Amino acid sequence: MRETGTLSSPSADQTKNKMANIKLSEEKINVIKDIAKSFGNKPGEVINVLHQVQGKFGYLPAEVQEVVAHELNIPVSRVYGIVSFYSFFTMEPKGKHPIDICLGTACYVRGAEKVLDAFRRALNVEVGKCTADGKFSLNTLRCVGACGLAPVAMIGDKVYGRLTPDKVPGIIAEYND
Ligand code: FES
Repeated sequence: MRETGTLSSPSADQTKNKMANIKLSEEKINVIKDIAKSFGNKPGEVINVLHQVQGKFGYLPAEVQEVVAHELNIPVSRVYGIVSFYSFFTMEPKGKHPIDICLGTACYVRGAEKVLDAFRRALNVEVGKCTADGKFSLNTLRCVGACGLAPVAMIGDKVYGRLTPDKVPGIIAEYND
């Protein structure tokens, strides 16, 4: 197993002490440092930095947010506020097969909530979370541009249209690999 690393910054002793408990591999810390550096470690680039970091890791857990805050010399609370506000940032890991249920207007009026509920029950997972085996994650999104097929869900890049709750078990079974 890889050793965990800590950050050191001679100009930020307080932050360094606070960072001492962060359990993140040296390699991951360096990835974040490199991304922050590529944006000049500028506080105003926080969204771009977070976007790229999420692109690398798939999600933004608390310890990653702390390293970003440290590298951009901004409070962790500001990073957390941004990650919480924008729906394209996530603090939870995605499953091997990410499921996204459209809750846009057309899908909503055609029963998307019942479809969402069927996925939730079939997988025993809450919205925004990943199944215990890491196979599926369940999320919602707004109009994916396939309103004619409402209600719509996506699993990875595959679009499923005209869904009803009774179709859900069969769809999940497609991913029994
Ligand atoms: S509202 Fe769901 S695809 Fe448009």
